Amino acid sequence: MARILITGATGFLGHNLLLGLKTDHEVWAGYYRNRPGVPDCNPVPLDVSEESRVVEQMSRIRPDMVVHAAAISRPDDCERDPDVARRVIVDGTRNVARACREAGARLAHISTDLVFDGSKGNYLEEDEVHGISVYSRAKIEAETIVRAVDSSAVILRVAVLYGAGSPAYAGYVANVLRQWGKGEPVTFYTDQYRSPTYAPQVAECVNRLLRDPEVCGILHLGGAERLSRFDFGVLLARQVGAPESLLRPGSMWDAKGAAPRGADCSLVSAKIKRLLGLEAMSCAAGLRHLFSVK
Ligand SMILES: NC(=O)c1ccc[n+]([C@@H]2O[C@H](COP(=O)([O-])OP(=O)(O)OC[C@H]3O[C@@H](n4cnc5c(N)ncnc54)[C@H](OP(=O)(O)O)[C@@H]3O)[C@@H](O)[C@H]2O)c1
Repeated sequence: MARILITGATGFLGHNLLLGLKTDHEVWAGYYRNRPGVPDCNPVPLDVSEESRVVEQMSRIRPDMVVHAAAISRPDDCERDPDVARRVIVDGTRNVARACREAGARLAHISTDLVFDGSKGNYLEEDEVHGISVYSRAKIEAETIVRAVDSSAVILRVAVLYGAGSPAYAGYVANVLRQWGKGEPVTFYTDQYRSPTYAPQVAECVNRLLRDPEVCGILHLGGAERLSRFDFGVLLARQVGAPESLLRPGSMWDAKGAAPRGADCSLVSAKIKRLLGLEAMSCAAGLRHLFSVK
């Protein structure tokens, strides 16, 4: 059993990490504004942008591992308020990385497929990053800081996440289902490709990292396949028995969002299989699992 501190534990990923890790480990749920939606998980107030608080909590809890999931995770929010985005993503990550180094805690820093500009697709860990939005540039800077502060840290790049929603963050699948439930069609891009990550696999990854303390550096954990947003919608519709008339094909170039997005940010997750034996799940399997545990 390890002692694990999760930052951003009330977020979509944080919630899935709590669910996946709390049975076998002593978890500490770092929260900011919202309270964690999982009982018995040692809630601890933690604004990552406050350096002294981060240091204080870290030296009090003395975690074996910190999973740093706190961020402003919506690119449009970052574009609208770059100062807050930088304060949380860049300064917050610096604070967490330094405090981990001081406390001797292993850091698993959660990063994103959006460090890539989407011009190539099927990205490997060593491919060149290129930020095209406030969010992606901040996440790239955060990765650079982590590497400079702590060479033993793991930088785990995940893709679009799906899984169980937290009380504060319902997530993409729940939002689509809500709209479908009202009989309203949802637009899915046919020209934007990703490799969606089943969020519980991130908890599985943390378990495997704990078993293998030597693994460090950048790892990709996407899904098993490169899919368009529309392909994902089709899989979801099949899984829940929704008529395909509720899927409206669209183009990402018609989107009104504030932040630019890459067309193909799909990730190759071969290294993580090689190093940790973790096989990225297909979306069909992930969605099957998600609805079997509901
Ligand atoms: N969601 C995706 O599809 C996706 C894809 C690729 C990568 N990622 C990465 O995965 C990680 C988790 O994303 P997510 O989807 O779980 O995000 P999320 O649902 O938006 O949750 C963000 C979390 O960060 C917390 N937070 C915000 N400001 C904070 C601060 N100053 N101090 C401490 N905590 C703060 C939020 O707390 P409050 O609720 O209290 O505000 C919340 O718990 C992020 O690093 C994100 O960049 C996400």
